[in-house]
Amino acid sequence: MRDHELPPYAPALMESTRAIGYSIETAIADIVDNSITAMANKIEINFFPIGSPYLSILDNGIGMTKSELIEAMRYGSSNPLDTRGEEDLGRFGLGLKTASMSQCRKLTVISKKGETFSGAQWDLDHIARTTKWSLLLLAEEDFKAFPHVEQLKEMESGTLVIWQELDKVKEGTTNLSTIMGRYMDNVRKHLSLVFHRYINGEVGIQRVAIEINKLSVEAIDPFLTEKSTQVIDDEIINIDGQKVIVRPYLLPHISQLNESEISMLGGEDGIRKLQGFYVYRNKRLLIWGTWFRMMRKGDLSKLARVRIDIPNSLDSLWTLDIKKSMAIPPAIVQQNVASIIKRLGEVSKRTWTFRGRKEIDDDKIHIWNRLKTRDGGVLYEINRDHPLVEAISCNNKREIHNLFKHIERSLPLNQLYVDLTSDHKIVKDSELSEVDLIQMIKGLLSGCNNAKERQEMINKLSITEPFAQNTDLLEKMLQEAQ
Ligand SMILES: Nc1ncnc2c1ncn2[C@@H]1O[C@H](COP(=O)(O)OP(=O)(O)O)[C@@H](O)[C@H]1O
Ligand SMILES: [Mg+2]
Repeated sequence: MRDHELPPYAPALMESTRAIGYSIETAIADIVDNSITAMANKIEINFFPIGSPYLSILDNGIGMTKSELIEAMRYGSSNPLDTRGEEDLGRFGLGLKTASMSQCRKLTVISKKGETFSGAQWDLDHIARTTKWSLLLLAEEDFKAFPHVEQLKEMESGTLVIWQELDKVKEGTTNLSTIMGRYMDNVRKHLSLVFHRYINGEVGIQRVAIEINKLSVEAIDPFLTEKSTQVIDDEIINIDGQKVIVRPYLLPHISQLNESEISMLGGEDGIRKLQGFYVYRNKRLLIWGTWFRMMRKGDLSKLARVRIDIPNSLDSLWTLDIKKSMAIPPAIVQQNVASIIKRLGEVSKRTWTFRGRKEIDDDKIHIWNRLKTRDGGVLYEINRDHPLVEAISCNNKREIHNLFKHIERSLPLNQLYVDLTSDHKIVKDSELSEVDLIQMIKGLLSGCNNAKERQEMINKLSITEPFAQNTDLLEKMLQEAQ
């Protein structure tokens, strides 16, 4: 055997990498990753839809020298198998190129470092002509043709990424301005969430300010950390000497949230849909709102969100994809989180169903429920599951519910209190007579369709007030009805 060097055919390979599957928001996030890795604390995104439309991302990071810039423009500028700096958000040495080219035909990168000012460009049309990997290097007089260059010049160091000929963004629309407004909303939301820990300046990481068309991007905290409870301790999983930190959160019940909090959690539907794991690689959110098929997204676990922090040194285990929108947890992590999920599901279920705890807890079904509310109050409620209620409410459910609500709210509690504590004799209605009971039981049995249903009804009545003490009567009437 002997070596035969076979480099890729440039135009074909560049065209195909455009189909990796980035959306405009994931593409921009990949460029922002580079800025954060370059230690920028300010990132300005500008979109200009008219004339010669462009999208630009300017950061005040460490910048690149000319040779560094040329190397950065190379497809596969670094080997994914190399060890990365601990804070590096990069991975394949592709993002800058593939993310950009997934949206546009012309990518220009201009960078300032020390006194050096350099620029380079990939232009798909130029490459189609030369059929080579022809990178265009900008000369001094070329710079002024690009937007925001003046701003970069004023900075100590930084990098400006410019996308032009936005063919993919334009696809299927004649009016770039309108569609772009919508796209930019998505981009804003995406960045708010994906970089929320950077925008908030969490302890231990550099705070980063991001602006889109001069409007700052606010952080979206998917755990509502201030208000949520962390019901179970952090779980630290050690893998090859590296730590994966799992922190389960339980959101507050929706009744305790205001509108902006609900919207932060993804809206009323979103709360349920976005339950699951939130996986962060170096504090940057990679993937969220999934249980990785380890359990179903049920109603009962809808308040559970689990933060998982992974370091970039474990990339190989997590099967990270190029767009950084997929990562599958390795078996060892799956085993460890399985038990957490189960415990969390149980607590979540309690929070969700807990409107009040039943006070009279004698295993009998009463017509009145006395409930203790979460904030220490008491609530009296007509038991909607009482057979007498069920029997009448099939047709007019809503009206009956409204009537009950009204009765419940207008219980003369204060007056009752006064009467009970005074010397007034409270005239208690005489005990129900057997005739009354028989009437009621008959009525309930007549609503049953067959012997089985009648048996079930009698079983239920035997634990229901006021029938419970009259089991003999219940038995007798069941015999008669069969
Ligand atoms: N905004 C930036 N500031 C400084 N250096 C950058 C910037 N963007 C890209 N680079 C350099 O270009 C390289 C290639 O970037 P990229 O193609 O996104 O791959 P990766 O991020 O996986 O390394 C980076 O490793 C970095 O050295
Ligand atoms: Mg990158």
